[in-house]
Amino acid sequence: MEPEPTVTRPRHLALVGLMGAGKTAVGASVAADLGRRHVDLDRAVTQMAGRSVGVIFHESGEQAFRDLEEQALGLQMDAVDPVVLSTGGGVLGRETNRDALARGATVVWLRAAPETLAARVGDLSSRPLLADGDPVDLLVALAERRHPLYHTVSDQVVDTDRLGVDAVAALVEQVAGDGAGVTP
Ligand code: S3P
Repeated sequence: MEPEPTVTRPRHLALVGLMGAGKTAVGASVAADLGRRHVDLDRAVTQMAGRSVGVIFHESGEQAFRDLEEQALGLQMDAVDPVVLSTGGGVLGRETNRDALARGATVVWLRAAPETLAARVGDLSSRPLLADGDPVDLLVALAERRHPLYHTVSDQVVDTDRLGVDAVAALVEQVAGDGAGVTP
């Protein structure tokens, strides 16, 4: 008798990278192109908490924000239909999050130089980690700590310096393979 064919469903497609990498704008564009739901993790956290990122950091501290972020990520990873997930820049700080993303998503790192990122970050109210000091210096320090984590978890890297949202989205769709519903 013929073996039953294995039914696989496409994986979630997650975008990681530092603040200013374009994860939210690119994620929205990719989701529209692929006909998937777009989930912005910061937005999911603020909806869950009923408070903005800035207020959560200010009132309850970064660890409380990270707890909510971990919880929101877990909920999204359990979604049956594959989504396009724009994460927050610090999501890979926790091992649980790294494991969840590695297991359930094709992960694409949107990489850019700290100078590029600093020029792109507009609203600092949702980015308290950039509020105290020179954004380039702070992003250099974050890059040193986080690039090894992005490198370990990501399946693909897209260099975004000098590229606009549409061009980056097209590259993400090209490299995402199974994460974009393309079976290799
Ligand atoms: C953070 C990045 C922010 C937000 C919070 C913390 C970080 O998201 O989650 O301010 O630790 O890098 P974006 O990367 O979308 O700006």
